[in-house]
Amino acid sequence: MRSIITGTHIVKTYRKGIEQATVLNGVDVDITEGEFVAVMGPSGSGKTTLLFALSGMDDITEGSVKFGDTELSGLRENILADLRRTRMGFIFQSPTMLRNLNLLDNILLPAVQDGMRNTAELAQKARHLMIQTGIAGLENRDTTEVSGGQLQRAGICRALINTPEILFADEPTGALNSKAAEEIMELLVAINQAGTAIMLVTHDAKVAARADRVLFTRDGHIVSSLTLAKFSGGDLQARGDKVLARMAHVAV
Ligand SMILES: Nc1ncnc2c1ncn2[C@@H]1O[C@H](COP(=O)(O)OP(=O)(O)OP(=O)(O)O)[C@@H](O)[C@H]1O
Ligand SMILES: [Mg+2]
Repeated sequence: MRSIITGTHIVKTYRKGIEQATVLNGVDVDITEGEFVAVMGPSGSGKTTLLFALSGMDDITEGSVKFGDTELSGLRENILADLRRTRMGFIFQSPTMLRNLNLLDNILLPAVQDGMRNTAELAQKARHLMIQTGIAGLENRDTTEVSGGQLQRAGICRALINTPEILFADEPTGALNSKAAEEIMELLVAINQAGTAIMLVTHDAKVAARADRVLFTRDGHIVSSLTLAKFSGGDLQARGDKVLARMAHVAV
């Protein structure tokens, strides 16, 4: 399989005055096309920083990040922004929506920025995504008039509107109750099965249990990697137990 993201010896140092903190300390990571990778680790161990580094959301101090064959640090900011918007998708704990736009227009936002696109076709695609994610009928709702789970689904629709090759998700179920979290995870598994690679940060072993591979971070390093078989439903408990056992073993 071809790599979609290759990070080599990533170092990230934050500087403020004379103080400096190295939060990624020579991380190597490779995500292949269509792979589902979960990242777990204690608070402050560098998970979000790694996600930002691998997606080109933030620059790195040393090392290299490639999207396919393209070195991200070599790109001009507007080219990088276009690449992120058209070929990557992002989901965060709570989606940031524009409050003056309804749900449908928020979902369309990354696509209409391309200008020349056929808006009728795009709206149809957005509506289709809303059906798939179970929020059909909420198109005209204000972003303040829906539940947290519904808003997160809208965030997923927005992340998928440009058909990304990889989805970056930072604790996408962190703000949800367990039922809504289960449903969002089922959705992410389906998205992955349709071919989109996923890098997902989570504190929840049951969430990570759906991934093909789980990476464990501690103090800016990847200290362990657990490969699971592709998830096909059913054996979630056993997979979660494997994740928990590895967490205990590497003490993250
Ligand atoms: N802009 C910044 N300036 C300085 N330090 C930062 C900055 N952003 C993050 N850090 C520090 O980098 C370290 C890693 O942060 P990061 O957000 O990647 O952790 P995390 O593993 O995602 O934690 P959590 O599970 O709490 O989200 C932390 O010690 C944090 O305080
Ligand atoms: Mg984080």
